[in-house]
Amino acid sequence: MNFALLITFLLLISSIFCKDHFSLWTEEHNKQYKSDQEYEYRRQVFYQNFQKIKELNDNPNDHAVYSVNHFSDLTQEEFHSTKRMHHPKPNVDELRIEKEWKSSQEMSAPENFDWRDKNVVTPIKDQGDCGSCWAFSAVQTIESNFAIHYNKLLPLSTEEVIECSCGLDTKKNECNSCGCLGGWPYLAYEDIKNWGGLAAELAYPYSVPPFGDSYPCVVNTTGKTICAPTTYCNRTCDKKKKTHYAPISDWTFVAKNEDDMVNALYQYGPLSACLQSSGWMEWYHSGIANPLMCWGHSLDDIDHCILIVGYGVEGSKKYWILKNSWGTKWGQNGYGKLIRGKNKCSIDLLVTYTTLKTD
Ligand SMILES: *[C@@H]1O[C@H](CO)[C@@H](O)[C@H](O)[C@H]1NC(C)=O
Ligand SMILES: *[C@@H]1O[C@H](CO)[C@@H](O)[C@H](O)[C@H]1NC(C)=O
Repeated sequence: MNFALLITFLLLISSIFCKDHFSLWTEEHNKQYKSDQEYEYRRQVFYQNFQKIKELNDNPNDHAVYSVNHFSDLTQEEFHSTKRMHHPKPNVDELRIEKEWKSSQEMSAPENFDWRDKNVVTPIKDQGDCGSCWAFSAVQTIESNFAIHYNKLLPLSTEEVIECSCGLDTKKNECNSCGCLGGWPYLAYEDIKNWGGLAAELAYPYSVPPFGDSYPCVVNTTGKTICAPTTYCNRTCDKKKKTHYAPISDWTFVAKNEDDMVNALYQYGPLSACLQSSGWMEWYHSGIANPLMCWGHSLDDIDHCILIVGYGVEGSKKYWILKNSWGTKWGQNGYGKLIRGKNKCSIDLLVTYTTLKTD
């Protein structure tokens, strides 16, 4: 080998080996930045996240794996403002008295159960840059409910919910659904019940960037809303003339108890639940999460909603199977596992299921 060739060869090797984590990551996720400053800033954010991920992985009581993913150049504030709900907390206790379900003593659900095995769970969805988890959670509960009864997977419209739900708090006569700024699944059910179901996703598609180019305006039908004013919005409710599917007759809170949750899931289908996601979920990769930061047990900590599709036991560890709405690149093809039996991340506080209206 002549000298020049050898040098070229060595240069080639070093250019492969000297790439830092960040530049490899930008290639993997096809990230482009407007300027060198932006690149440098994102590189720093990336390594800060890297440090937090390391801390999560170093926790001996949490056997899940946390890793960088497509969100890893975002600061926690950025992630929080685009993906999570920062929304006044609902006053659910009074409502819970009328609406609560508890399982009877003799109910016995199997040790492991996964509704995905029954083909009643629609494909993983993606919120994009919008705190619409509450609407996804509500819609997916109904989709699975519909699939269980009619043996048909029909993706239903989340856009309809974020554009058209007021989320009326009847005690205060004010709207509580705030589109991309948050809302609560149980308030959305009341609207969906009144609409006679939901439009199909295809008829009323999700339109928030990067999937579309419009932002939903908050509904303020009562003249009173708890929503912050939207800085920019250009889409308002347009559900007339659309066929509605899966009408629901009612919805129910599951008692704040993980055994009742198991029985409700087994008996009625996937459950809507809300939880504390901040500090762990954005970096979750695989395994059963038992995050240190979820030590509280209060509605105030809740900032995200998901769908629970199953549960199981692995060795001595019981877990829930969560269907998230952060795309298929998150977790294990969009799904994750959270430890069960410890009320971890307040997973038991806002659990609901719906009842379909059947003729
Ligand atoms: C909303 O605004 C964006 C950006 O100005 C524009 O491209 C889009 O067409 C608008 N959408 C609607 C439904 O008006
Ligand atoms: C809701 O409507 C009332 C009355 O029309 C108005 O005063 C208030 O500013 C609106 N709130 C928002 C956030 O749009």
